[in-house]
Amino acid sequence: MTENWYQNAIFYELYVRAFRDSNGDGKGDLPGVIEKLDYLKDLGVDCIWLLPIYPSPLKDDGYDIADFMHIHPDFGTVEDFKRLMNEAHKRGMYVIADLVLNHCSDQHYWFQSALKDPMSKYKDYFVWSKTGKEYADTRVIFLDTEPSNWTYSPEVGEFYWHRFYASQPDLNYRNPALQEEMINIMRYWASLGLDGFRADAVPYLFEREGTNCENLPETHDFLKKIRAILDKEYPGRILLAEANQWPNDVREYFGDGDEFTMAFHFPLMPRIYMSMKKGDPAPIRWALENTPAIPDGCQWCTFLRNHDELTLEMVTEEERQWMWQQYAPDPKMKLNLGIRRRFAPLMDNDIQKMKQANAILFSLPGTPIIYYGDEIGMGDNIDLFDRNGVRTPMQWSAKAKNAGFSEGSTLYAPVIESPEYSPTRVNVEDQQKDPESMLNFMKHIVKLRKERPFLAGSRIQFIESTNAATLCVMREGNGRRMLAIHNLGESSAYVTLPERLNFKPQMELLTGTPVPADLKTYELAPHQSVWLE
Ligand code: NOJ
Repeated sequence: MTENWYQNAIFYELYVRAFRDSNGDGKGDLPGVIEKLDYLKDLGVDCIWLLPIYPSPLKDDGYDIADFMHIHPDFGTVEDFKRLMNEAHKRGMYVIADLVLNHCSDQHYWFQSALKDPMSKYKDYFVWSKTGKEYADTRVIFLDTEPSNWTYSPEVGEFYWHRFYASQPDLNYRNPALQEEMINIMRYWASLGLDGFRADAVPYLFEREGTNCENLPETHDFLKKIRAILDKEYPGRILLAEANQWPNDVREYFGDGDEFTMAFHFPLMPRIYMSMKKGDPAPIRWALENTPAIPDGCQWCTFLRNHDELTLEMVTEEERQWMWQQYAPDPKMKLNLGIRRRFAPLMDNDIQKMKQANAILFSLPGTPIIYYGDEIGMGDNIDLFDRNGVRTPMQWSAKAKNAGFSEGSTLYAPVIESPEYSPTRVNVEDQQKDPESMLNFMKHIVKLRKERPFLAGSRIQFIESTNAATLCVMREGNGRRMLAIHNLGESSAYVTLPERLNFKPQMELLTGTPVPADLKTYELAPHQSVWLE
């Protein structure tokens, strides 16, 4: 392991069920991921994040775990998992996976035992109430499907607590035996070679009356405890926090460098979409100017999309309404407090905008994550339930059966069929051959980025521009200076740089063209970005 490798790296979020089916049962699997490792390596991916692969009734796509210590038979075996670790490591890639601490499936034997036997020690692995009235200040997250965080169990005659679906009972972290179980689960997967964990839903581990049951000090104490164990027993492994919270609350998850190694930057993500639609750099600037400093050795994870709805939790009510108006014109596109669409449709399938969004993300501090399929601009299917529309089979080829995802006849979900996004129009094979494709752009920008570690660092300077629709950021380090100019507007922009910058770029990196020595004013097409070095 290279020390702090995750600070200048490219992550790839991989939904195993959708990626590649190796045995023709219509469901992606771990051997399928192994088949495609060279593709990921070629894209420049350093770390793969595997979505949940554990036995599960899959009511929340595997985030409802029925057995923490095995692999779901659809996805393969523990042997396949070990082989994947080896094959990824051989190629110099890291692998992390979800660690779902907050809850399990109602099918887990802990919950089943609690239902069957009120004297079972497992009853106290969960959070119960006789009235279902406690913790009334806690918001409901799955607003569209769950009326309450309490559900009555007729077997027990009491209510149990759940922050997500009722089929996902929350675990009781006030019980030391439960804590120990969860720690052992983490140990087990680390012992099989996993390089770290994306820890799901971490703000919600503990509950306390009179609070909103999020970000409690006792939650942080437990998270510090697991970090200390990981550091001692499996040094170098990383912990990535999923804490969909405001910057100052997320900051707490880094502790003094003794809690999480990384955390997703939720407030930045929607503001990239906002800035691009408004033609105004202010939202992005706001997000970055309100990003607190983090301890050495920590890093933000930045992203444009993921497997969930595009969450609008970290914007104001007014901004949320505006985002829905702009990006979810069809009410079917809304889900909970978000938008259940993929990246390419959100960008109107306009390759110029798709490239720009990535040019913005990659020019800012943090470690970027690419959501599978977005590197080729895959579409979505809003007719599918919940978030399934952004989790359809990966489109490898126009010619092969089922887009090259599977040789099977019944798939876990249909391949995208809409004319604009069908595999005939959007697939890896064709894009590999086309120098102007999204895929080749992504490969290029990944490479540029990794050659310039200072881009991942926290140092950033906003440069006032002569054009109000442009975002200009100066990044520097390793004896280099790079100025990214993003024209967020719908018309051409002319940008003259302040003399005092004394900046005489030689190359425009995105196109690889030299910059004329006497050039004073840059002309940018609508939604064009340049990286001047
Ligand atoms: C966050 C995950 O990203 C989401 O997919 C899941 O439904 C919830 N946590 C519950 O585990």
